[in-house]
Amino acid sequence: MYLPPALLLLLSAQVAPAAYAFAPHRSLADATERFHRFAKRHSARFARDLRVVFQGLAVDQAESDPNASHRVYCVRPDDLSAGFGSNTTSTSPATSSATGSASASGTSSGAAPTATSPWKLVESHSGKNFFDGFSFWDLADPTNGAVDYQSQEDAESGGLIEINDDGNAVLKVDTTSTISGNRKSVRITTENTFTGGIFVLDAVHMPQGCGSWPAFWSNGPDWPTFGEIDIIEGVNDYTNNQATLHTASGCQIASNSTAQSLGISSTLIGGTNCAALETSNQGCGMRSDSNTTYGSGFNSIGGGVYAMVWDDDEIAVYFFPQGSIPQDLTAEVPLPETWGTPMARWPATNCDLDTFFKNHSIIINTTLCGDWAGSVWTASGIPGQETSCAQRTGYSTCEDFVHNSGASFGKAYWEISSLKVYQTTRQS
Ligand SMILES: *[C@@H]1O[C@H](CO)[C@@H](O)[C@H](O)[C@H]1NC(C)=O
Ligand SMILES: *[C@@H]1O[C@H](CO)[C@@H](O)[C@H](O)[C@H]1NC(C)=O
Ligand SMILES: *[C@@H]1O[C@H](CO)[C@@H](O)[C@H](O)[C@H]1NC(C)=O
Ligand SMILES: *[C@@H]1O[C@H](CO)[C@@H](O)[C@H](O)[C@H]1NC(C)=O
Ligand SMILES: *[C@@H]1O[C@H](CO)[C@@H](O)[C@H](O)[C@H]1NC(C)=O
Ligand SMILES: *[C@@H]1O[C@H](CO)[C@@H](O)[C@H](O)[C@H]1NC(C)=O
Repeated sequence: MYLPPALLLLLSAQVAPAAYAFAPHRSLADATERFHRFAKRHSARFARDLRVVFQGLAVDQAESDPNASHRVYCVRPDDLSAGFGSNTTSTSPATSSATGSASASGTSSGAAPTATSPWKLVESHSGKNFFDGFSFWDLADPTNGAVDYQSQEDAESGGLIEINDDGNAVLKVDTTSTISGNRKSVRITTENTFTGGIFVLDAVHMPQGCGSWPAFWSNGPDWPTFGEIDIIEGVNDYTNNQATLHTASGCQIASNSTAQSLGISSTLIGGTNCAALETSNQGCGMRSDSNTTYGSGFNSIGGGVYAMVWDDDEIAVYFFPQGSIPQDLTAEVPLPETWGTPMARWPATNCDLDTFFKNHSIIINTTLCGDWAGSVWTASGIPGQETSCAQRTGYSTCEDFVHNSGASFGKAYWEISSLKVYQTTRQS
């Protein structure tokens, strides 16, 4: 979950804030290529499903062609671009249905393409039942944060969690001005576990500001044996998200990997060895080149959707700013092959995902200070945190700030529209 401070300083110096303009469908050639590979692995039934999505804009002679089932289903880039955001919507509902142990009410958007996807909604949290199916962690923070995690009852009565007027779930940090111990916060974990899937968080706000260390992540039992996937994570005033894997020994990305060879829109930071216990738990991290992907940057654009895809071939993290969310995702029929360049990607080539990742719970928490946020309190030159938190706040330590500046945590809250999980077949 964190990088040793010395390493972080070193790395932050080399990460120049790059002018990467985020465009989810930036590389149509890349999308098409991945789409093609995916189609090749799937049956004619899937090809038919894809054709429905693109409503005839793509190759559509398959049905009448007796040789269709031998043909690799593929579309040209211009067909692909026409397929989305144009005339593909209809009023019929999506045909995806909850097949697993959905623990809360799912919501479908009104206008949806008539489409199916091999990925089916298996769990959905939104609206007034958002917190159903989550458990609340109320023990000490294992990463030494200055937080006092609350039970569900205490979080409710203390006003730290609520469903607001927009129907979004809000998870706050206590803002009592002065406290002597740890500050109250919330950490929620899904009761169900998942092996493989697409985990999708739609949020309009996330915690920001000095002292905060929020995360949307997942992990398996007996850490790090069954892996940890950090989808959204950062600290303090950072504006660029970092996604990281932490695993048992034997999981790597190729040591000569580059952003280009991985096909990602971020910068590799830390190592290529993902083994937690061999790397002082630094893991293999990728930091977004976009400053609207985390903290105040994310909030400045009204947030967006993070989607983590975990299949046999790779683990990948995508970010879609509010307003650029793929229609298939909104319609709950995700087709990740059409999503373009991911923010982060770990191919299975040097890491057998079936071995290193199993039975993940999904976790959302906000800790304060602790191993990461506390240790970079005096660091500067990181995107979003050009000057240090010590300078910005006037407090020489993170803990002092947490104890004495409650109002500063007014923006350290999550506001979440939904958390959804898709799988091809339910696997816990
Ligand atoms: C189907 O495949 C056969 C054998 O490859 C070929 O002779 C035939 O012309 C094909 N039919 C069509 C409609 O493409
Ligand atoms: C597609 O959308 C455009 C713009 O909204 C509209 O002018 C056109 O008639 C539509 N075409 C079809 C086939 O629905
Ligand atoms: C809370 O989040 C931090 C940051 O991701 C993580 O390292 C820590 O383990 C979490 N704490 C708990 C109790 O989940
Ligand atoms: C990385 O190394 C492997 C094996 O030595 C090689 O096949 C591959 O082409 C290299 N990739 C890059 C991006 O240099
Ligand atoms: C992101 O970086 C650009 C270029 O440096 C800057 O103009 C902009 O204000 C930054 N946005 C945020 C939200 O930090
Ligand atoms: C993972 O989940 C499966 C299915 O519930 C269960 O049989 C298995 O024991 C779990 N593995 C671990 C390591 O918890």
